[in-house]
Amino acid sequence: MCGIVGYVGSGQALEVLLHGLTRLEYRGYDSAGLAVARPGSITIAKAEGKLSRLKGIVDPTALSGHLGIGHTRWATHGVPSDRNAHPHSDTSGDFVVVHNGIVENFRTLRDQLELRGVTFRSDTDTEVLAHLVAEAFDGDLTEAVRYAIGQAQGAYALVAMTAHRPDRIVAARMTSPLVVGLGENETFLASDIPAILKYTQRFQLVEDGEIVTVTEAGAAFETFSGNPIEKKPFTVDWETDSVFKGGFDHFMEKEIHEQPEVIARTMGTRIRAGADGGERVALEGLRWLDQSPDGVNRIRITACGTAYHAGLVGRILFEQLAGIPGEVAYAHELRYGNPLFEEGLLTLAISQSGETADTLAAGRLSREHGSRLLALTNVVGSSLAREADDVIYTWAGPEISVASTKAYIAMLVGETLLALEMGRRSGRLSPAEEGELVAELRGLPSKATRILESPDEIVRLAEELAKWPNVYFIGRGLDHATAMEGALKLKEISYIHAEAMPSGELKHGTLALISPGVPVVAVATNPQVHSKVLLGLQEVKARRGQVIAVAFEDDQEIGSVSDHVIRIPRTAHLLSPILAAIPLQLLAYHTARRLGRDIDQPRNLAKSVTVE
Ligand code: F6R
Repeated sequence: MCGIVGYVGSGQALEVLLHGLTRLEYRGYDSAGLAVARPGSITIAKAEGKLSRLKGIVDPTALSGHLGIGHTRWATHGVPSDRNAHPHSDTSGDFVVVHNGIVENFRTLRDQLELRGVTFRSDTDTEVLAHLVAEAFDGDLTEAVRYAIGQAQGAYALVAMTAHRPDRIVAARMTSPLVVGLGENETFLASDIPAILKYTQRFQLVEDGEIVTVTEAGAAFETFSGNPIEKKPFTVDWETDSVFKGGFDHFMEKEIHEQPEVIARTMGTRIRAGADGGERVALEGLRWLDQSPDGVNRIRITACGTAYHAGLVGRILFEQLAGIPGEVAYAHELRYGNPLFEEGLLTLAISQSGETADTLAAGRLSREHGSRLLALTNVVGSSLAREADDVIYTWAGPEISVASTKAYIAMLVGETLLALEMGRRSGRLSPAEEGELVAELRGLPSKATRILESPDEIVRLAEELAKWPNVYFIGRGLDHATAMEGALKLKEISYIHAEAMPSGELKHGTLALISPGVPVVAVATNPQVHSKVLLGLQEVKARRGQVIAVAFEDDQEIGSVSDHVIRIPRTAHLLSPILAAIPLQLLAYHTARRLGRDIDQPRNLAKSVTVE
């Protein structure tokens, strides 16, 4: 949700800014812009639309210099346009800011500034910050930024520079992520680590409530109230390769194909040989499990989007494997829903990015009411990871495509490990039962590979789906969660309307929309209700709907009620969502591809939603 990059050092800022923006474009692509400072002047280039438009207009001579900031925008206040693109400057043009987040009281601040004679040149909330910094500047940029954020309410990361001090950038963070990268005679700022990983592997995180003054010598941290903070750098050893497409046409395609490896990595060292020779889960570092394993009476899972769908699967796993009742709540509903809290309630917040504003807020609310907060997230050091009492990392690696795929699969594996761990500790699962499921888990990477090796049928079906304006997805129990995720994938990247529901719900209204040929994708891996699913599909067939089923390869009956069957290797029912999601991801991908959509950066969306 907007990406920020900054550079000060001996090199050319422009090169770093364009590289960083390329890596950050997944966060927003309504417009892009950058500013480079030289003593006495700042030059800005910005353009509505994707970064390629900005790249087409930048003039390296006009933008040469050693200090600069850049921004990719996901519009909140003001339509996507050149004038609303960041950076924004004050009236003199000597003070320039970029901003990620929302200034909630911008209307009041704008009115006050206008009364003081300021003329605004954009519709954004951000511009007030540029004017406030300029107004307060008396030679000290850090103090001017402190003044500006003292006026502003909301959630943001703000980065400012001025032509009067072309040796520094000053940034402040209140909820939106920001990281400092340390180099030799150069220092970087960015919304995330991959944006500057090409230049350094040493980082310092900017925390909420901190201001950082960045010069080529490094970064000086202090609290909003001015107390200095000592901060040790940390090193990351991620492969820079993981942020390239590696021979695939899209990041989404690459990330789908990484899933066998991701399943194995999420399990990683968390599976060990047990005393009886069988394998068992060993999830470590969960303090609450060690201290009071019996203290959890109920699990409330909270998340948004794809992570919410992972939560739907998790609820069933926790109930079935650990005997712990659960509920799943959209984070944006939970935070304003006056939820009830009771003794023994564990809140599990799931978020790939660990930065989704609603998920963070729901997690905070839960902690405030005494619930223990467990995070399941992909991003080490993310806000959610830092705020939670305990963290399970999914280890999916950087996910660049806006549509989440490998992070979802890794969430499912993470939840399975947790449910198995809790089930064993509670005595609900015998070592033999645990061993059986662990052995099945071990087999998933090769089964996932088999699905990925035979995409021809899916490509053909995608050509069919691409002709239809509406597609319906059905399934029961765990299959319903998979259907929800399949529908979301299809709509977000192909722009085809897709709707998912439990199979049994179809006849309560939606069946009215089934006419000859209308595609109904049925996920049918649930053995407990297989015959019921077949009955439901008969009803679709009776209206001459077109049934596309996802079923186990040895399912003998499904063919009789389906027009097409996508077969997946058989696995334990509780693990089936991990495999069944993969063909639906491929179906969405190939449909979007057939329609010529912008697969990695679908319209109107952004990778991490750091605003309400
Ligand atoms: C869909 C998608 C979104 C995210 C949602 C939550 O493909 O990616 O629905 O799942 O915005 O994001 P995180 O998991 O980062 O909290």
